[in-house]
Amino acid sequence: MANPQISIRNLCVDYITAAGDVRAVNNVSFDIGKGEVFGLAGESGCGKSTVAFSLMRLHKPPAYITGGEVIFDGHGDILKKTDAEMSTFRWREMSMVFQSAMNALNPVLTVEEQFCDVIMRHTKMDRKQAIRRAESLLELVDIHPNRLRDYPHQFSGGMRQRLVIAIALALDPKMIIMDEPTTALDVVVQREILQKIYALKEEFGFSILFITHDLSLMVEFSDRIGIMYSGELIEIAPSKQILEAPFHPYTEGLGSSFPPLTGPKTKLTGIKGNPLNLLEIPRGCRFQTRCNKTQPACFTTPTQLSQIEPERFSNCHLFTKIGQ
Ligand SMILES: Nc1ncnc2c1ncn2[C@@H]1O[C@H](COP(=O)(O)OP(=O)(O)O)[C@@H](O)[C@H]1O
Ligand SMILES: [Mg+2]
Repeated sequence: MANPQISIRNLCVDYITAAGDVRAVNNVSFDIGKGEVFGLAGESGCGKSTVAFSLMRLHKPPAYITGGEVIFDGHGDILKKTDAEMSTFRWREMSMVFQSAMNALNPVLTVEEQFCDVIMRHTKMDRKQAIRRAESLLELVDIHPNRLRDYPHQFSGGMRQRLVIAIALALDPKMIIMDEPTTALDVVVQREILQKIYALKEEFGFSILFITHDLSLMVEFSDRIGIMYSGELIEIAPSKQILEAPFHPYTEGLGSSFPPLTGPKTKLTGIKGNPLNLLEIPRGCRFQTRCNKTQPACFTTPTQLSQIEPERFSNCHLFTKIGQ
């Protein structure tokens, strides 16, 4: 991709525990364009949150980034930044809405305190200017500015989630990572919030890494989607194509686990078997134990994400053979 906002190359993250060294993210590479929504999907435990935290450098032991580069437009490799450089970079250039973020607000501080804390810590604004900024942020997410003095418990779940999104927007970042940003909310509120985020993105032009296990929401709100399986990115495609014409047998299985958005309802076949135990990685392809299209190479040769069509990448031997 020409001139991406962020370019992730061969990212590896290990959890180093007494039980063994678990490679939870293995050679993950993808770009996100400026103003693009890139969705990251895959079963629970496949490494989505580990990628998200590593990009923000908010991963904590036993997680260690053991390889790769994360090139952020105008900043070079952010994995090489010092902790001090990273703390000015974070929130200002790239911010994050965490999984179950609505519980991330501090219950004993007013919303005003929490907004002013983030704004004043990262900018030269004084308190009066910070309050004015906080008021305009509240308006952006359709909450009346006179609610600034209220405490988190005085807001509904959906409103708390919008408050957290407003904090993520506070310093006008170029990219926002959203890890299951609406999972705890009911379906109607989820869609409302995602529509709001999308409208804000259109207005301000930031890029989004959108993580959810809800593929139909993801297809609706993402430009492109990457599918992860057991720590590896196994397919990248424009969101319109990923379920309609999947390349990787795992993506095909995921697609049949979800009801189609339009057209007749089909039987949900899902994917047999369980995700890999990361302590027992087989030789060859990581998906071999659940795949119904294996060939001899799948048991001997590791797979690699390769470009198959101009906008399509997959790591399946079925396709890389054809492409080579
Ligand atoms: N604190 C931890 N200690 C050891 N291993 C962990 C820890 N957190 C996550 N992992 C490993 O990393 C894998 C990916 O986890 P995670 O990134 O949270 O997945 P996802 O967000 O896709 O559900 C898990 O399957 C597990 O093997
Ligand atoms: Mg997660």
